[in-house]
Amino acid sequence: MTERVKIFDTTLRDGEQSPGASMNTKEKLRLAVQLEKLGVDIIEAGFPAASEGDFDAVSQIAGKLHNVEVAGLARASTEDIDRAWQAISHAAHPRIHTFLATSDIHMEYKLKMTREEVLAAAAAAVRHARTYTDNVEFSAEDGSRSDRDFLCKVFEAAIEAGATTVNLPDTVGYAVPTEFAEMVRYLRDHVPNLHKAVLSVHCHNDLGLATANTLAAVMEGARQVEVTVNGIGERAGNTSMEEVVMAIHTRGGYLPVTTSLNTEYIHATSRLVSMITGIIIQPNKAIVGANAFAHEAGIHQDGMLKNPMTYEIMRPETIGLTHSSLVLGKHSGRHALRERLKELGYELSDEELKMVFKRFKEIADRKKHVVDEDLEVIVTEGILRTSDIFQLSYLHVTAGTTVLPMASVEMSVNGRSVRGAGYGNGPIDAAFNTIAKLSGTVSELLRFSVSALTGGTDAQGEVTVRLRENGLIALGRGADPDIITASAKAYVNGLNRLEYLKTHPVQATAT
Ligand code: KIV
Ligand code: ZN
Repeated sequence: MTERVKIFDTTLRDGEQSPGASMNTKEKLRLAVQLEKLGVDIIEAGFPAASEGDFDAVSQIAGKLHNVEVAGLARASTEDIDRAWQAISHAAHPRIHTFLATSDIHMEYKLKMTREEVLAAAAAAVRHARTYTDNVEFSAEDGSRSDRDFLCKVFEAAIEAGATTVNLPDTVGYAVPTEFAEMVRYLRDHVPNLHKAVLSVHCHNDLGLATANTLAAVMEGARQVEVTVNGIGERAGNTSMEEVVMAIHTRGGYLPVTTSLNTEYIHATSRLVSMITGIIIQPNKAIVGANAFAHEAGIHQDGMLKNPMTYEIMRPETIGLTHSSLVLGKHSGRHALRERLKELGYELSDEELKMVFKRFKEIADRKKHVVDEDLEVIVTEGILRTSDIFQLSYLHVTAGTTVLPMASVEMSVNGRSVRGAGYGNGPIDAAFNTIAKLSGTVSELLRFSVSALTGGTDAQGEVTVRLRENGLIALGRGADPDIITASAKAYVNGLNRLEYLKTHPVQATAT
């Protein structure tokens, strides 16, 4: 029988370490529910000792999910492990994930510990975690740059102390596939008790090799892969979940494993992560990029018409990319909307549907066809952001060749309605200045970009901003048929994310 490789999703922990990509608790819960539906085996919900906010999010996720394992990250210290356990103890399937660096450079400069001390601390951390649960993972941070024999000793000691999973991270994305595979083989041959634990890998993408390294390790016997949706994560990101899963799915004859994933939810999950984090997916991104299934060249199109397999190695339907036969427009009713949202992976309560339907009608009045991307924006802006501190309720802008650009804004700040007017160099500048004044914020706009959400001149404009305040950086995203409104929404979203970061300071963890 083909062996199964476990999918350990760390979008909510390592993924959230992407610059600017903080998520609030409501967004994390929504994403966690979607990941469970997608069928991942383990969700790393966060790092409870990092902040009260992280603790709270992990604890809520642990209470909500029933079928999936929920992991909480902890450094190899009693306090961190206690905190992680407090956050996840009520989960149906809790896992403590503790880690300690094993490379000489990390031990000498960061930890200031000797090899002997690290060896003892790793075993002690696992032993302590085992007093709470028999599901304990140990990670050797910067494992790929560690001395092999020392790493073997650490893994042996961790397993001896009770670790049920040992994880080899390529923390700085330095490994190359043949070397990484060889390292996994070395561990297999030199850790005498390795058969008592699941061997896992966790790769970063600094050299663009995360997926290749992960698959090379799977070929050598790794049976857990740590991944994020869309490959988001610190610096160049983590191994992309959809790339690994679809490689296994598509090349099943060559790769000797299967996964438990319901691949038809990949597209919806990828869009949800992009909407929530504000990180746009590059068009040529494998599997989930807008062009991943687009065939432009005439020769290719001709071949595709004769037999799709000439140029298509995967069917778009496999990842849930369907062209709905249901075209939504202003005459569509609540039932049709609910059905389409369900197909997209959004199960809404009656109250939520009411809100979404109202906004849907507004958009449908301005646009002939309301497409999936429009619906995703409505759900993200209307449902997931409702707990925001700042909310834009009214915007009126005047601009032109001979008038001073002016903006009138009404917004709510912590539930209190405020209004005012201001001017700027252009309509967007006027809107941003007025919003900044009303919200009492002093952020700096680092980047501003506009694109169209779909084709057509009536497409919604999608704006992303990057804001900085006191060293904190946040992304904001907004969409609307009117690009000035889209800009204002993106700006307000960025300000909300900055507020979240101010109240949820994240302690530095591993990369
Ligand atoms: O990259 C890394 O080393 C990590 C560990 C905590 C697993 O994220
Ligand atoms: Zn990592």
